[in-house]
Amino acid sequence: MKKLFIKTYGCQMNVYDSDRMSDALAASGYEATTEINDADLVVLNTCHIREKAAEKVYSELGRLRILRQSQEAKGKKMMIGIAGCVAQAEGEEIMRRAPVVDLVFGPQSYHKLPELVGRAANEKVVETDFPAEDKFEHLPKARKETTIARGLTSFLTVQEGCDKFCSFCVVPYTRGAEVSRPVAQVVAEAQNLVDGGVKEITLLGQNVNAYHGLDEQGNSTGLAELIYRLADIKGLERLRYTTSHPRDMDDALIEAHRDLDMLMPYLHLPVQAGSDKILKAMNRQHTAKEYMELIERIRAARPDLALSGDFIVGFPGETEEDFEATLQLVKDVHYAAAYSFKYSTRPGTPGAEMDNQVPEEVKYERLQRLQELLNAQQKEFNQSCVGKTFPILFEKKGRDEGQIVGRSPYLQPVQVEADLSLIGTIQPVSIYDTGKFSLFGKIVT
Ligand code: 5AD
Ligand code: SF4
Repeated sequence: MKKLFIKTYGCQMNVYDSDRMSDALAASGYEATTEINDADLVVLNTCHIREKAAEKVYSELGRLRILRQSQEAKGKKMMIGIAGCVAQAEGEEIMRRAPVVDLVFGPQSYHKLPELVGRAANEKVVETDFPAEDKFEHLPKARKETTIARGLTSFLTVQEGCDKFCSFCVVPYTRGAEVSRPVAQVVAEAQNLVDGGVKEITLLGQNVNAYHGLDEQGNSTGLAELIYRLADIKGLERLRYTTSHPRDMDDALIEAHRDLDMLMPYLHLPVQAGSDKILKAMNRQHTAKEYMELIERIRAARPDLALSGDFIVGFPGETEEDFEATLQLVKDVHYAAAYSFKYSTRPGTPGAEMDNQVPEEVKYERLQRLQELLNAQQKEFNQSCVGKTFPILFEKKGRDEGQIVGRSPYLQPVQVEADLSLIGTIQPVSIYDTGKFSLFGKIVT
């Protein structure tokens, strides 16, 4: 067996993709390793969403060059491949900047990986086309023992690409136009995961609630309907989905949150900013008020639902007043968790061309203020869980001896003193304390 080492950067879709690459290469005799020194093939699955993400890849390549030299001195060959969104965006440029790389391939060519790796043994290979065929039809399914080894929760990509063209975002360029996988293909993959012991599936898509795959009769099917189809799979206990755009949150999906208990009451619904002027410049296609009204409708349907979001500070033209509108929106919503970033120009996006860029130190200062507020809200949310009882899906051994750890419906890790035999089961747990990252609870008997 040859050894494959994959390092994954960025979003959950990359985590999913890395597993698919691993499955594709298993067929040509590659076995995954967590030890880079043993690897015959090293793949960096990269992210291009923000500046630092791509720079991290180039500094990792500097380290890999040194590792490869020392491996060669021992007579061992090591091939280096770059996958993901940096590969898609930079293509040939990567070979120029880092000649140590043998193979550059974008997210739409993972099904061709065995062939590409074969070619890369003799020549430099760059593959960044968007091929006409459906890669998902050609990617092999995971073997049962591999699924079991990957654990009780799994990602499943149902939709890829984005047609929204927010003016800061590279995704429509690196991942291409919105494509939804057919319902039957998704159901079959979910069934395969459940057969391998998976109890919780998170459906993934850059804009997952725009899902519109075809069903067996050729009818366009929304995300809510797909969720109901998956809910019928015996042995599957929990469903989640991410990431959603406010504009695509339809009534059927809101009703699914009301009616379907296995759909977890936790929703990642990025708003990015609270000022209508900035939302317009970002091409978000909604106002702050429309977002707030949407949240009200979702909460009316499912009062215990918790929200998380993404925020960008310092988008071109953002004044102090605009930024304060973001703070106000956060105060009005009360987030359980959130991700916040300084705006970074992405070459090729409209935002990069805008001439009213915000100085770095202003972005920094605003990010500090926003994060202080978001952290306080997260703490408040965690504290509000104390005294409540939640179903916890136990996933593995806990931090300390005698503990096991699982996730709450809100994705919080919950540490409980209990027998290892409960791993893989869902138990009612009463929360008695919160730590920095976890909750602590006792099983209710
Ligand atoms: N600068 C900063 N943050 C960005 N994001 C996307 N593009 C940029 C950018 N150019 C953030 C958004 C998005 C999340 C995945 O990353 O908040 O929702
Ligand atoms: Fe990017 Fe906007 Fe599409 Fe999200 S909805 S992937 S932020 S373009």
